[in-house]
Amino acid sequence: MSVCSKFEVAWVVIKQELLDHFNGEGMPKDAAEWYERNLDYNVLGGKLYRGMSVVDTVEILKGRALTSDEYMKAAVLGWSVELLQACFLVADDIMDNSITRHGQSCWYRVPQVGHIAINDSFMLESAIYFLLKKHFRSESYYVDLLELFHETTYQTEMGQLIDQLTAPVDKVDLSTFSSKRHSLIVIYKTAYYSLYLPVALAMHMCGVPAAYTIDSAHIQPYGTAKSILIPLGEYFQIQDDFLDFSGSPEQIGKVGTDILDNKCSWCINTALELASSKQRMVLDENYGRKDSAAEGRVKVVFEEVGLREIYRVYEEGVYAEKTLKREVFRSFLNKVYKREK
Ligand code: FPP
Ligand code: MG
Repeated sequence: MSVCSKFEVAWVVIKQELLDHFNGEGMPKDAAEWYERNLDYNVLGGKLYRGMSVVDTVEILKGRALTSDEYMKAAVLGWSVELLQACFLVADDIMDNSITRHGQSCWYRVPQVGHIAINDSFMLESAIYFLLKKHFRSESYYVDLLELFHETTYQTEMGQLIDQLTAPVDKVDLSTFSSKRHSLIVIYKTAYYSLYLPVALAMHMCGVPAAYTIDSAHIQPYGTAKSILIPLGEYFQIQDDFLDFSGSPEQIGKVGTDILDNKCSWCINTALELASSKQRMVLDENYGRKDSAAEGRVKVVFEEVGLREIYRVYEEGVYAEKTLKREVFRSFLNKVYKREK
């Protein structure tokens, strides 16, 4: 069975646990059918990278195949990350007035759903805590899991707030953009829940301690993981932003829309830092307009300020830094795992 479908089989079991509990509360049939549809519609359909990376990380840390009990636990954590993402996206699509998600209509736009989607989003979040209690209540790291989900949710909400304030729907104001703000948005809205959360959950499940002293070096493994994963998330987003501008539809599999959509992307922030006053006027007048000629004028400024070269230099810098940090983390893992004493 492929890795992905094994993870998907676990979802069938997990979803049934949620529905059995729901029915056990005496909920009527129409509500159970609604809840099941909420779960299927919003939790499935994505690429499952975040959820599966919990399972992958547990396997890497254990250094062997997982027992079926371990697999199920890791899958519950993985699907909990997917539930968290589903709850965010249902709410985000309402805030962004979005039309489609994962190639289907956004949940709040499905006939009969509308504002019930707000409650559905909360239910997706609450499902996480039902599952954690059911599967981890007696584990020593139960509170760590709870704290991690709560803190990550809070961080994502902070990121969502600054994102919404930076690019209000239907209002273009480039003076609210800055590279510092972009980096904060990316880190808080995406990197914590997408990169740090899955790895930190796996570390808790594998018993990685909060702090450790070895050879008189004081190691804080979660801090180390964060220091690697958060900048990595920032890098992924910058890469995504750059490809949205530079990649052909054949290369990136989609048509870039950041300029038309008034996105506070790495490209516009970098261009704003370098633009002459004449170029700045072009950007002010053409950015975020739903018009492909205006988009073309913005792209000319992006080329004029040398965005491609700046990106190339940035990417090389990131690569050098990552190689160094990877070595630091690897040497920590080698020391802690497979120890004899
Ligand atoms: C998508 O960004 C947005 C997020 C991943 C975070 C959304 C967070 C919330 C809505 C917080 C709400 C919290 C609860 C508990 C309901 P995007 O709009 O840039 O990406 P997109 O193009 O995929 O929509
Ligand atoms: Mg959105």
